Parts: sequence; structure tokens; C-alpha cells
Amino acid sequence: MKTLPSWLLLCCCTPALWGYPFRSLQDLDATPRVTVLSSGLLGCRRFSGTAVSYSTLLLEEKVGMLYVGARGALYALDASDIAAGNTLSIDWEAPADQKLQCLSKGKDNQTECFNHIRFLQRFNETHLYVCGTHAFRPLCAFIDVELFRFSSTFEDGREKCPYDPAKGYTGLLVDGEMYTASQYEFRSSPDIRRNFPSPTLKTEEAPTRWLLEADFVGSALVRESVGSSSGDDDKIYYFFTEKSQEQTPYFSQNRVARVARVCKGDRGGQRTLQKRWTSFLKARLVCSIPDYEFHFNAGVLYGIFGLEWKNVKASAICQFSIADIQSAFEGPYMESQESTLKWTEYTGKVPEPRPGSCITHHHRAEGINSSRDLPDDVLSFVRGHPAMFQPVLSTDQHPLLFKRSVDYTQMVVHSVVALDGMLYNVLFMGTDEGWLHRAVEVKGHVHIIEELQLFEEPQPISSMVISIATGSVYAGSTTGVVQLPLSSCQRYITCFDCIFARDPSCAWDRTVCVDIASRSDRSNLTQDILNGNTGCENKTLDDAVPSRTRSVVQGDDALLQCELSSNLATPRWTLDGRELQGYGVDSGYRVGTDGLLLIGARPDQSGHYGCFAVENEIRVPVASYTVRVRSRPPPPPPPLPRLPRPKPSEAPLPPPLVHLPSGPEFQTYRHMEAMYISLIAVLSALSFVLTVVLLYVAFCTRGRRGKYSLRGPGPEGKRGSHMELRTIASNCNGSAVDGLLRIVPGEGQASPNKEPPPAPPLPPPPLPSSEYAGVLSATLPSVLRKMNGNSYVLLRQSDPDATSPLYHTFTEELNRILEKRKHTQLVTKPDESSV
Ligand SMILES: *[C@@H]1O[C@H](CO)[C@@H](O)[C@H](O)[C@H]1NC(C)=O
Ligand SMILES: *[C@@H]1O[C@H](CO)[C@@H](O)[C@H](O)[C@H]1NC(C)=O
Ligand SMILES: *[C@@H]1O[C@H](CO)[C@@H](O)[C@H](O)[C@H]1NC(C)=O
Ligand SMILES: *[C@@H]1O[C@H](CO)[C@@H](O)[C@H](O)[C@H]1NC(C)=O
Ligand SMILES: *[C@@H]1O[C@H](CO)[C@@H](O)[C@H](O)[C@H]1NC(C)=O
Repeated sequence: MKTLPSWLLLCCCTPALWGYPFRSLQDLDATPRVTVLSSGLLGCRRFSGTAVSYSTLLLEEKVGMLYVGARGALYALDASDIAAGNTLSIDWEAPADQKLQCLSKGKDNQTECFNHIRFLQRFNETHLYVCGTHAFRPLCAFIDVELFRFSSTFEDGREKCPYDPAKGYTGLLVDGEMYTASQYEFRSSPDIRRNFPSPTLKTEEAPTRWLLEADFVGSALVRESVGSSSGDDDKIYYFFTEKSQEQTPYFSQNRVARVARVCKGDRGGQRTLQKRWTSFLKARLVCSIPDYEFHFNAGVLYGIFGLEWKNVKASAICQFSIADIQSAFEGPYMESQESTLKWTEYTGKVPEPRPGSCITHHHRAEGINSSRDLPDDVLSFVRGHPAMFQPVLSTDQHPLLFKRSVDYTQMVVHSVVALDGMLYNVLFMGTDEGWLHRAVEVKGHVHIIEELQLFEEPQPISSMVISIATGSVYAGSTTGVVQLPLSSCQRYITCFDCIFARDPSCAWDRTVCVDIASRSDRSNLTQDILNGNTGCENKTLDDAVPSRTRSVVQGDDALLQCELSSNLATPRWTLDGRELQGYGVDSGYRVGTDGLLLIGARPDQSGHYGCFAVENEIRVPVASYTVRVRSRPPPPPPPLPRLPRPKPSEAPLPPPLVHLPSGPEFQTYRHMEAMYISLIAVLSALSFVLTVVLLYVAFCTRGRRGKYSLRGPGPEGKRGSHMELRTIASNCNGSAVDGLLRIVPGEGQASPNKEPPPAPPLPPPPLPSSEYAGVLSATLPSVLRKMNGNSYVLLRQSDPDATSPLYHTFTEELNRILEKRKHTQLVTKPDESSV
């Protein structure tokens, strides 16, 4: 078999991850190294027309066009710059009377009674073929590409396009033949069809249903005829979830992920299976960790499995090889026990030629030239045995990534040859909140290089496509389409930043981080994809960063700022060259990824401070401070004795710190002072707690960085037990996602002349645990805290390793400091610091 391109399967909402100890899943989790907000995107271009819901993208590299199907409109954009403005468009909204009819059927006037473009593909050299839901009366038409106009009258689309814009759907145009799969009408059964040329082929419903409430996510043509010695046929693979039929020990969920396939040359049966597929077979896809041998093949697919476990949203990414899928289809069949209706392995006699196979030389030698010549017993067997017994297990026996707090909605893959000559798969995952995760697969694990906020307003990424020619990734969502460069090496300004990123496209050339594709002479380039820690010169604190001077009044708080750009870095501080140990409350230090907090500065805290970011076991100097703790200036003269008694409602700021005379005439005043101090302490404590709670809530709900801190509810308690995962199929039916998920070929196709890369050693050795140590560091949200008017303090905790006493929560932490503060005197004098 010829080398297959890397395919991308986007398989949403599949519950097939089971029996996985939670601890191992944590090891598979990955924190995006860098977080980039939409304002910080480099080379970003945006398009949005008058329409909404940009759910269908068709990229044509040859002509340099990106065709976009939206709700009620089609656009032809310049792929090199979608914001260029020379856009052609077709308005195609459902007419008012059709909308009224749709409303009268009780459909949603906000989402369903519009014309959502669900299908947009190249038909022939001059024409595209498009289908839209057309307010619950699907229509299709040809588009003249040159003029970007409809060239024909509309055709009935009822058999080709679902009525419901949110229904799972996949379609392909292959050599003038149209293949679609969906549940077309509300009441109809889901179906995999060849719509043209006639006769239309469908799946069988009786006596055995081949599809049970199937929800389709994608399809792919695999040209298995090319170079086949057995005269095999091309096949179309379908990916979907459906109601589970088989009984397995771990199955408590009732939907399973499936792959099905049909042969392109299928013509249906003569008498049995007339106008039905004779080559339909399906197998289960399992994203799990059984002990199973794995054979690598160049053809791989990636599946996204959406999971929900006790309200924790999560996505898993599994890789499957085409070879494994093929061997499942060549293995034993399943049969339904008529007495119990249970599906078990079929062990009886299998008729010849093998049921469900494509027509090959073997068939033709026996005089069977087409599926119509197949004997009745073979076709009857096919009709009753559509499912294979062996499931298809994910490669490497575990998911590549298990990401909590994230719903991936789309995924595309791009293969990059790195400096070491190896081919790396770069994965682009779109989330349900408008973010893009760019990741690299290294030795069976996923390192998330960065997370990019594509859309400020949270919205699901509903379509994604990659162009090698323009070096761009395009993502469509509810409000528009975004074009971004495949990588942004210039974002990394130091050697270590460039190396730590582990981006296969980026390398350090001694002065800047460059895209390796831009350099023909690569002799001076440095890169380390495998470990992300070699190739840069170590720098000492003094020659790396200029030292700043700070002067702090004894007893005040001071923040030595030290922002770490990487979410995977851990801050380390030194004082006069010695590592600061223990940042507990009593040590007088708190450390966060924003800086070091000196709490109630003491004279012995004077000295030379160094801040280092530790990542991949390398210490990189970030900031340096010379701190002088000055003793407190002499107290101001005592205030006048009789003060008017202020009303509580107009309580003034507390007077400057004073040493009060202790004569009897001052007893009232002293009493009052104490009252004020405790009142203010209580009030500020209250407001801090409130602020913390509010900010915490804000971070957790909106939360980017903050979300990494959230440990799953009680995983420790569940340790060792099997986690149970439920399907979240309903998540996919959100109208905004449109349920449209597609399969996109990877780059493998674009460079057919390239030698296939050496297969990675298998089974891959586990990564050194230290490499991923930073990944799991639970970091709490940055919180802006105003301390008694004298300084703004950013607190952030990280790295809950055994040596650091940072296991308590942030609220707990603040309460402690506040508690301590109650017993100390309040200071209103501003921090006299010089930078
Ligand atoms: C949609 O229907 C709801 C209730 O049926 C109505 O309140 C709303 O105004 C309608 N919206 C539009 C845009 O017609
Ligand atoms: C492409 O298909 C359209 C629609 O059937 C047809 O009108 C046109 O002539 C075809 N073009 C070519 C080059 O075959
Ligand atoms: C199949 O094709 C061969 C050669 O084209 C022909 O001789 C044979 O009769 C055909 N068989 C059937 C069943 O049509
Ligand atoms: C590589 O670096 C050396 C030393 O800095 C320099 O002389 C040489 O020109 C560089 N080569 C390239 C191709 O940049
Ligand atoms: C840089 O420092 C790391 C440890 O921090 C050490 O392993 C490595 O050998 C050093 N490299 C050089 C070139 O000094």
C-alpha cells in the first residue's frame, strides 16, 4: 500500500475513553506554554461579512482562494490575505415565505430558519457545488467559480444535505460522485449515501439497522487502489458516534465512536441489497489504554474525544492508524443473538468471497466483475453482519493528550521537517471558546506550544483549514474568519525562549528566532524539539539583566517584579547568590510568577536579589534587584490631645502611625484609635475577601491562566479506581457549532516526493518525568491586591512541589496575611522605592 497522507479526524463527543486511572491522565495533560491574547496576535488577518456563522471553508491552494460558506452568504477570499478587501460574495438567504413555513413548523427563528451553507466543494474545473439548509428545505446549486455566481437553477437538496443546521453531517465530492452522511430529516434514520451518479446507494435498515442514531463528524477518501497488487478499490471512511450495540465490561455509556467504510466502486446488489451498499462495514474506535500491540503505519488519523466527567469538561486526542482500521475490517464479524439481541463475535462459517470486501482481482478471477455479480449468500451475510468484532485501538495505547477544562471543536494537522531532519506533526486545535492551541507531537506526547485567543468574544471554532502555500491557518467561527501564520518565531526574543518553545518551525540563529524555512544555510541554527533545553549559552545574572535598586522602609511590603512569560516556567529567587528557601508566611517572602513579595521588610532582607525562570531544568536569569531596607524614619510629633469625636460614617483615614502618650487623659483617645484600627482591619479584610472571591470567580469562569489551577474534583479520592465518563453529545448539537466537523488531509499530500520520514522508535520511550514536571504545576490566578494604600501587590502561586508550602488556597493565603496584619500597625506612608 502506498504511503498515506496524515489525515485529520475530528471526532467530537465520543465517550470511548474509559478505564483510565486519573493519575495517568494528569500526566497526559499539558499546559499551553504561552498564552497570547487577541491583542497580541502577530500577523493576524480577519474577515467578516454581513453574515454570521462561518462554518464551511473550502481552500483551493492552486488558485489561492479561500471559499467561505456562512449563514445566508458565500464568499470568495484571497487566501494570501483574507482581509485584502477584494472579496466576491453571493447572497443566498432563504426567502421570506420559506422562513414563514419554517417558523410554522415550530423551528427556531434565531437559528434554524436561515440558509446555513453545509456543503461547498469543487465539482469540476469550472464549478463548485454548494448545498444549504434553506430554512428547513435544503437546496443545492452549481457555482461558476470565475464569476462567483450561481450557474444553474437550484436542485432539491433533501437527499444530500440535512435540514437541521446543527445536525452532524459530512460530505465529499470524489471524481464527480457525491458521498454524504447525515440524519437528513428530523424523522428519518441516519444514512451514508452516494447521491450521484445514480443509482443512489444507501445503508440498510431492515432486518438489521446498520446505523443506530449515528451522528457524523467526518469522512475521508483513501486511495487504496493506487499501487495495490490485489487490485483493491478506493475507499471512503466515515467517522461518527452511535448508540452502542455491543456489551463490554466497561461500557456504562451508551454511545460509541465508530469508523465505517464503503468501496468507491460499489454498485449495490442485484436482487439482495439492491440500491444498498454491499461493502459497508463498521468498527469501534477506542481511545484508551489496553495492552495491545501496535504497528506503525504512515497513514494516521487523529480523533478528538470530548468527555465529561462530573462536570469537568475535557478533551482527549487519540491517534489511529489506517492500517489498524484496515485490519479490523479484515478480522472477525459480530453477530446479533436473536434470543438476547446481544452482539457477540461471529464464529460460524463465513461465505466466500469475503462479505463486505471491495471487488478485487480475486473476485474478477472468479467472474465477479462488480458488486452486482456477488452471490446472494454473501450479500445476505453482509446485510446481517455490518459490524466488526475487533475494535480499533489508538496508537501508543494511550491518548496523546488529555486536556481538562477544554472542549476542542476542530483540529488540523501540519507536518514539519525540523532541523534534526525528523518529521513532526504540528496540531492545531480550535476550542469552543474561540482559542487556538498549537501543539507538537513528540514521542507520543503533546507539547502545547501556545494558546492563541482568536476571538475576543468566546465562540466555538466551527471550521479550520491549513494552507501550505500561504503558510496560514484559517479558522471560522460565529462572527468571522481569522487567518494566522502557521508559526510566529519572532515572538521569541531570547535564545532560551526560542528553544523552550519547541516549535519545529523555529530556530535560534545566534541573534533572533527565525522560521527555519526562511534559511537555506542552516549551519548557525539551533533547535531542540525533543527536550527543549540545549543549544543556548548559559548566562550569569549580572551579564544577563541590569540590576535595579529598590529602597524599602523597614516593616513595609515590597514587590520585586519578575514576570515569567512561560506558563511552564517556575520562578526561583536568590539572595546574594544563595537560593531563597521556603517562601512561607513566616519567612517574610512570598513568591509568584509575577514577582517576589517582601512582607514586612526586615534589615536582613537587604541584599542582591536574582530572579530566575526555571524551565526544562534550565535556570534563565530574568531580573535582578539590589534592595536596601531602611530603618523607619522618626515618628512625627504627637497629635493635639482633644480630637473631635468623628461620626463613624465619616471616618477619616487612620492617622499616621503614632506613639501615643499613655496619660489618663488619653485613655479615650487610645480606645478610639484601637477601635478604628480594628474597624479598618475588619473592613479591609472583608473587602479583600470579597475582591478575592470576585476575582477568583471571574478568573474561573472567564479564566485562561486561572483554569490550570483547577484540579479535578477529588481525583485523589478516586485514585486507582476507574473513572467513568459520560457522553456529551449534546455539546455538539449547540447551534453555533453547527455539528459540522470534517476530515482534512495533512501535509503529507503536499510533498509526495519527499522520502517518508523514519518511523519513530516504537514503543516510544517515556519522556523523562522532569520534562513534564512543570506541566502540572498548579498556578493560581494573579490577583491584584492593594495593601493598606502603600503598594499594589500581585500575588501568584505556583509549583506545588514538596519543598514549597504552597498547597493552601489563595483565599487561605490572603486570610493568613490579613490575620497577621491585624496584629501589626497600619502604615499609610507610601513605599519609598526607587527603580
Ligand atoms: C423569535 O420568536 C420569539 C418567540 O417566538 C420572539 O419573541 C422573537 O421576537 C422572535 N425573533 C425574531 C427575530 O423574529
Ligand atoms: C462542470 O459542471 C457544470 C455543471 O454540471 C457544467 O455546466 C460545466 O460545463 C462543467 N465544466 C466542465 C469543464 O466540464
Ligand atoms: C466479467 O468480465 C469478463 C471480461 O470482461 C467477462 O468475460 C465475464 O463474462 C464477465 N462476468 C460477468 C458475470 O459479467
Ligand atoms: C554563522 O556564524 C558565524 C559566526 O558568528 C558567521 O561568521 C557566519 O557568517 C554565520 N553564517 C551564516 C550563514 O549566517
Ligand atoms: C548550562 O546550565 C545547565 C544547568 O543549569 C547545565 O546542565 C549545562 O551544562 C550548562 N551549559 C553550559 C554550556 O554551561
